[in-house]
Amino acid sequence: MNPRPADEAAIEAAAAELAAGRLVAFPTETVYGLGGDAASAEAVAAIYRLKGRPADHPLIVHVSGAEQARKWARWNDAAQRLAEAFWPGPLTLILERQAEAPGWACGGQATIGLRSPSHPVARALLAAFERLGGSGVAAPSANRFGRVSPTRASHVIDDLGDEAPLVLDGGACGVGVESTIVDLSRGRPVLLRPGGLDAARIEAVLGVPLGAADAAAPRASGTLEAHYAPRTPLELVPAGVIAARLGELAARGIRAVVWSRSRPGRGEAAWEPAEAGSEAYARALYDTLRRLDRAGFDRILIERPPDGGDWAAVADRLRRAAVGAPARD
Ligand code: TXA
Ligand code: MG
Repeated sequence: MNPRPADEAAIEAAAAELAAGRLVAFPTETVYGLGGDAASAEAVAAIYRLKGRPADHPLIVHVSGAEQARKWARWNDAAQRLAEAFWPGPLTLILERQAEAPGWACGGQATIGLRSPSHPVARALLAAFERLGGSGVAAPSANRFGRVSPTRASHVIDDLGDEAPLVLDGGACGVGVESTIVDLSRGRPVLLRPGGLDAARIEAVLGVPLGAADAAAPRASGTLEAHYAPRTPLELVPAGVIAARLGELAARGIRAVVWSRSRPGRGEAAWEPAEAGSEAYARALYDTLRRLDRAGFDRILIERPPDGGDWAAVADRLRRAAVGAPARD
């Protein structure tokens, strides 16, 4: 049976899969991950193959905590403070890789991304894998490259089909967008990807503002302009002009569905109510995008969310989805 409810026996079976060099999809508090033994070149290669991801895009290595992270990375003071404050949780730290740590999960880079997830199933899986001698699980989001990340076990099956490995079903992810990524490898801390942890909380702990990613920042697929994209063309529209845009599209026979906080002026339009708060919105985001994508419309219109603050991750993902699913008119 796949997906398999993530009870104790299923988690033990999944850890045994990892120890044997095979892949497992598992829930984290952010999104579902496609995991493999980070110390196994074959397992890491299988992740890239299944995801269709370019080999130079590094993976995040998931660990149970700071102690395991130190085996992989040169730990520093900022990492210690952030890990104490936010691990386990939706924060990925980019650090210099330990010279003796295998580099295949890192896309050939001298740095490594590390995260300690808080989801109880992810934690139990990491603990069981450690009991079998493992020390880190490399896991990108369990979707095909460039597409919308999975926040339910069924999304993983929808994406990977018959090729899906054992999928542990831990229900819907509580955060719903990927982890925040902070680069601590180059002196001044830099925000590489806004995510489930508000950047302001990181700045409060570090006592300095996070820099913005520049040309020298490491490549990150989650930071490509066109990413997280549905197949249906998607537009971000300010609330005040949704009704007018619907009118233009209807006049040209283009059938649109709207995701917005209040019902669009054209009452007959297909409408999905949007969550008012950023946390609830983030939790619903990928499932809603997948549902609207499958609903058979020609166009998805989404009310432009507030930018910045606790909306930064949602605004970022929606912007990339719109770039990746362009409306050619
Ligand atoms: O919430 C998450 O982070 C989820 C769950 C499964 O943990 N994972 C996730 O992985 O979003 P993925 O592979 O879809 O995105 C990982 C991002 C990519 O943008 C990757 O390039 C970046 O992390 N990354 C990983 N290692 C890096 C490194 N050494 N330097 C720079 N970026 C790195
Ligand atoms: Mg991803």
